[in-house]
Amino acid sequence: MKIAFVGKGGSGKTTLSSLFIRHLATTGAPVVAVDADINQHLGAALGLDEAAAAALPAMGERLPLIKDYLRGTNPRIASTETMIKTTPPGEGSRLLRVREDNPVYDACARPVELDGGTVRLMVTGPFTDADLGVACYHSKTGAVELCLNHLVDGRDEYVVVDMTAGSDSFASGMFTRFDMTFLVAEPTRKGVSVYRQYKEYARDFGVVLKVVGNKVQGQDDLDFLRAEVGDDLLVTVGHSDWVRAMEKGRPPRFELLEDVNRSSLRRLQSAVDSTYDLRDWEHYTRQMVHFHLKNAQSWGNERTGADLAAQVDPGFVLSESVVVNA
Ligand SMILES: Nc1ncnc2c1ncn2[C@@H]1O[C@H](COP(=O)(O)OP(=O)(O)O)[C@@H](O)[C@H]1O
Ligand SMILES: [Mg+2]
Repeated sequence: MKIAFVGKGGSGKTTLSSLFIRHLATTGAPVVAVDADINQHLGAALGLDEAAAAALPAMGERLPLIKDYLRGTNPRIASTETMIKTTPPGEGSRLLRVREDNPVYDACARPVELDGGTVRLMVTGPFTDADLGVACYHSKTGAVELCLNHLVDGRDEYVVVDMTAGSDSFASGMFTRFDMTFLVAEPTRKGVSVYRQYKEYARDFGVVLKVVGNKVQGQDDLDFLRAEVGDDLLVTVGHSDWVRAMEKGRPPRFELLEDVNRSSLRRLQSAVDSTYDLRDWEHYTRQMVHFHLKNAQSWGNERTGADLAAQVDPGFVLSESVVVNA
């Protein structure tokens, strides 16, 4: 199951991603955590000290390796140089599973031990000015998008992405790659305006979007969010002393997280799990092709000097049965 946490900077994406990851880890489920936020703080929120967080390998710097592995023997992709972030898998491509070892995880993922279990953490690497706002070849989230497009995940396996709600993810189609998108919103006009923008994109592409109210205090905050986002409001989280203690570098055991916040995390998980039966791999594959053709036309063909539409394998549908048969 692929889950994104999006929202305005400072709304609590990283905090809630990390809590959700910690919660999943206690269930024993395999989890890949991905930091694709502009401000790379997921490692710290998962308890890594500064040195360990700084030592995490950046996916953005390992794109050639990632492309080379995923390309496999796909005859439609002539070289890694012509493989762009939206290049879809086809016959011969290598696919990723959540629970396996592979060269991409070897190069880009590091184990993080949490109370109750170990998760894999991958990070895009810090963003520079050149990365922001442009749907370009070097975009940091490109590596994440490639991996998501080559990932075959099953029930009870989780990939959690801490992500910016930026124009980059709309241009590339990254925002359509998830079973569930949690939009983290504070009960403020700004918090809700990001929701409106996201909702508009989401509607056109059948994205399952739920709002997680954060830093919600009291009835007035709750009423405000209800009035602004209606039934899209899934759950709210209040101020957490547990989070505060963690931010001071003194993380309490996870079982000491406030009961009310723990039950919010359980609700997030059941919302995610209930989308499994709605999955439509054909639709999912069609969307990646749609965004690939769009990117090919707008910059990819020119940049690579190749006709990238030819990379699309018309008979290929990503699905769990593809890997079972392989
Ligand atoms: N529910 C909460 N309780 C206490 N502090 C919180 C909560 N949610 C977020 N914070 C704090 O707010 C700040 C911003 O949160 P963060 O998760 O880094 O936001 P984002 O990733 O969206 O930029 C952090 O200092 C974080 O610890
Ligand atoms: Mg963040």
